[in-house]
Amino acid sequence: MKIGVLVSGTGTNLQALLDAQGRGALAPAQIAVVVSNNPEAPALARAHAAGVPAEVIDHRGLAREVFEDRVLAVLAARGAEAVVLAGFMRVLTAHFVDRFPQRIINTHPSLLPAFPGKDAVPQALAYGVKLSGVTVHFVDTSLDGGPIIEQVAVPVQPGDDARSLHARIQDVEHALLPDVVRSLAAGELSCQGRAVLHRRDASPGDLRAASRPDAGGGRAE
Ligand code: GRF
Repeated sequence: MKIGVLVSGTGTNLQALLDAQGRGALAPAQIAVVVSNNPEAPALARAHAAGVPAEVIDHRGLAREVFEDRVLAVLAARGAEAVVLAGFMRVLTAHFVDRFPQRIINTHPSLLPAFPGKDAVPQALAYGVKLSGVTVHFVDTSLDGGPIIEQVAVPVQPGDDARSLHARIQDVEHALLPDVVRSLAAGELSCQGRAVLHRRDASPGDLRAASRPDAGGGRAE
C-alpha cells in the first residue's frame, strides 16, 4: 500500500516512518511521497536524505479547497492509497477526508479525547494530569476526534515541563505510528462503529461482524 505522508515541521515522526521502512518494518506500506505545506519544514530534508520524493504545497494565499486539491493531485500522481499526518498542522475538510475513508491516520500527543488541537502537551501539564500519552487515530472532519486506533499512556513526572514530557511522548509515538501504518497496510484494522479492532485482538467472529455493512464497519465516522 503506497502512502503519502503530510508534514509541517520537524519531522521526527516522518523519520521514524523512514527508519522503519529502511529496516523493512513498514511493509506492506511504502512511503510514496512526502508533502509539506511549509517550505521551511526540516522534515523535507529527512525525505530527501532517504531518497523519498518530497513536494511543497504552500497553503498561504490558497483557499482551503484549492490547497487540498493540490495535495490530492500530488498524492494521486504518486499512487498514494492512504495518508499519514505526521505533525501536519492544517485541518482537512470533507473535500479531502472523503477521498480516503478509513485511510487517513494522525498521531496526537495526548490521550484523546482529552486535549485535542494545538498545544496538547502544555494544556495537559497546565491541567495537572498525572497521565498523558499518545493517540493514533483515523482522521475525520472533527478536530482530533476520529476513531481511536491505539493509545499508549505516558506518566507525567515531577518537574516535567512541556519539552521533557513531549520528548517522552514522542519516543512512544515514534514506535507506535510505524506499527499502526504497517497494520493498516496489512489490512489488520477494521471499524465497528467508533471501535477500531485489530486482528491480533479479535476473534474471527468479531472480524466477520465488523466487516458486515450493518455493523457500521464500512468507514470511519
Ligand atoms: C508530534 O508530537 C505529533 O504528535 C503532533 O505533532 C508533533 C510533530 O512532531 N501531531 P514531528 O514533526 O513529527 O517531529
